[in-house]
Amino acid sequence: MRKKVVAGNWKCNTTVAEGVALAKEVNDIVTATDVVVVLGTPFTHITEVVKTITNKSISVAAQNCAAEAKGAFTGEVSAAMVQSTGAKYVILGHSERREYYGETSEILNKKVALALANGLTPIYCCGEALPIRESGKQNEFVINQLQETVFTLSPEDFKKIIIAYEPIWAIGTGVTATTQQAQDMHKALRDAIATKFGNDIAQETSILYGGSCNASNAKELFASPDVDGGLIGGASLKAADFNTIIMSY
Ligand code: 13P
Repeated sequence: MRKKVVAGNWKCNTTVAEGVALAKEVNDIVTATDVVVVLGTPFTHITEVVKTITNKSISVAAQNCAAEAKGAFTGEVSAAMVQSTGAKYVILGHSERREYYGETSEILNKKVALALANGLTPIYCCGEALPIRESGKQNEFVINQLQETVFTLSPEDFKKIIIAYEPIWAIGTGVTATTQQAQDMHKALRDAIATKFGNDIAQETSILYGGSCNASNAKELFASPDVDGGLIGGASLKAADFNTIIMSY
């Protein structure tokens, strides 16, 4: 049975004190045991948040890691550093990083390899912009994003990855993909994974939906057979809303 995962992406929000307070609230409110809950915090917060979490269902993620192992790369945070904080996951390939920080498939391949080499589980994001959706070429585009990156991994390494489908037009806009749009894409991605790595691996891969997923629409989205959870931005900053999303299974 593939894992159900609800991951929060706090993005560039909260001070350390605010983040620790939020993590404590989430820690205390979450009772679900069949859902893997992940808190994607800023780098600066990870060590403190890891110390705060006692709830066995909850792990911590970084939102990025460097494309180099170590060395003279001022301001970068390596996968080994992330691992040393106690974080277990790392969000990679988010559309905001692709768009604002120029992350290409080549850069992302280096990041994924370093994350895996350091025992981190990548939550690997993909998704199309509005013009691509309007042209009807979204499946082709998103599958190509995977073909250039995580589909180049060995089957053993691919098995360690979580995929997050995040249509860019749904991120932070309040416009969620319809349940049908999410299911259609997730099914297309699972089929592509089956073609590349075989049906057993495809059936075991968790594919999360992200983009204006909130306490009101999560239940409907998560009811789709190929939607295995969510990557949640804005709604993960409120413990009660985030817990409602977790309880939406
Ligand atoms: P929102 O849930 O705020 O739309 O953000 C989604 C997202 O980008 C999560 O990574």
